Amino acid sequence: MESGKRASFTSKFGFVMAAASSAIGLGNLWRFPYLAAQYGGGTFLAVYILLATTFGYALMITEIAIGRKTGLSPMKAFSSLDKRFGFCGALGAVVPIIITPYYGVIGGWVVKYVAVYLTGQGAAAAGDGFFGGFITSAWEPLFYFLLFDLFSGVVVFLGVEKGVERASKAMMPILLLLTVFVAIFAATRPGAWDGVVYYFKPDFSKVTGKAVLAALGQLFYSLSLAMGVMITYGSYMKKSDDMNGSVCQIEFYDTLVAVLAGLMIIPSVYVFSGGSESAMSAGPGLMFITLPKVFNAMTMGTLVGGAFFFLTFFAAITSHISLTETIVSNLMDCFRWSRAKASAVVVAFVMLMGVPSSLGFGLWSRCAPLGMDLLTFFDFVSNSVLMPILGFATCAFVGYVLTPQAVIEEIEAGGRPYAHKKFYAFLVKYVAPIGIVAILISSVASGLGFLSF
Ligand code: PHE
Repeated sequence: MESGKRASFTSKFGFVMAAASSAIGLGNLWRFPYLAAQYGGGTFLAVYILLATTFGYALMITEIAIGRKTGLSPMKAFSSLDKRFGFCGALGAVVPIIITPYYGVIGGWVVKYVAVYLTGQGAAAAGDGFFGGFITSAWEPLFYFLLFDLFSGVVVFLGVEKGVERASKAMMPILLLLTVFVAIFAATRPGAWDGVVYYFKPDFSKVTGKAVLAALGQLFYSLSLAMGVMITYGSYMKKSDDMNGSVCQIEFYDTLVAVLAGLMIIPSVYVFSGGSESAMSAGPGLMFITLPKVFNAMTMGTLVGGAFFFLTFFAAITSHISLTETIVSNLMDCFRWSRAKASAVVVAFVMLMGVPSSLGFGLWSRCAPLGMDLLTFFDFVSNSVLMPILGFATCAFVGYVLTPQAVIEEIEAGGRPYAHKKFYAFLVKYVAPIGIVAILISSVASGLGFLSF
């Protein structure tokens, strides 16, 4: 399959499901709700949706078009279009190498919580110090991380058609159904209404620079942009497939799951805590610390909690698969390695590299670059530094060197006229690059502690 003709997804549905399952992950279920809770509920939601439909749309269609146009993985796609922009490929190849290990570590935490709920220990998970005890333990996080990494490695080893596409087609619809079910269940619990209102009602007087920037950063992360994932997937897309339609669907599903995840979590937390500031701004711990308390307080909480972590596991593993697949695909293209060899090397590498992130809360907690634990540090370097740089370079490249017209031609290659040509060109030349520079400067500045607003 790999020699000669490049493997491809067998249908548009397969492509959309695979790309959506890369996009939908911990970003939607874990990161989006805590940011939304923190930055004013409906206000954050409104800003996010606005950005997703403009900025996110432009970047995603650009990356998929570059992938399909060149039929290459990111490492080679850029240099084949213009030698001077070959560095984008290298950057794009570096980002997943940083993200995959620590993403797997969080995936491992989720596996742990699935195990906890399956064995009926939901009440224990609600206890103070449960999560802290877990992540600081010497071997537990490591064990669950290794399990998680091995699983996604096997899927990638099976290849695009048999592995990634099949797993995505089976898992995505289940995930969507489960999300809808749990969201409706959580949002209709007695007293949840106030929280639902908080979540959906925007208050534009509360839009702060920080909230907008958080929403922008979230967009990259959630849509798997600026790290070569969508280029890789685009390279597996058939010429005849409707690209614009696919991108709209991927964005729709990704945003839908984020919105539903918020609906699962925010009203419950709001009601449970009486809307207290500190509970709403629990941050990354919201899912692992606050949510089990919420489940514990609700009737049938163990069941809902179990279903929730189970679907989070689905979402996380499919995203992890796409990250692993991107690295594997780069290695296969660059060194002519077989899929088996590349998969084995990547799984082993990820296992090794995940160790510091996994132990960064416990045994290795004294190693704290820039004052961050190791996992947060890797997250910062990739999301707040490298991804914005690559996103900006991609837009600059397409906007001013390759020209938007070239992307538009690729979008239309399937024979369908593209209705948003002007809108696209405007976004990619002006809106996206300026927006990205804004995120980059402020996120680095605030990460380094120069800026707090
Ligand atoms: N988009 C994924 C999420 O929301 C994360 C991810 C990033 C996946 C990059 C693949 C590549 O969780």
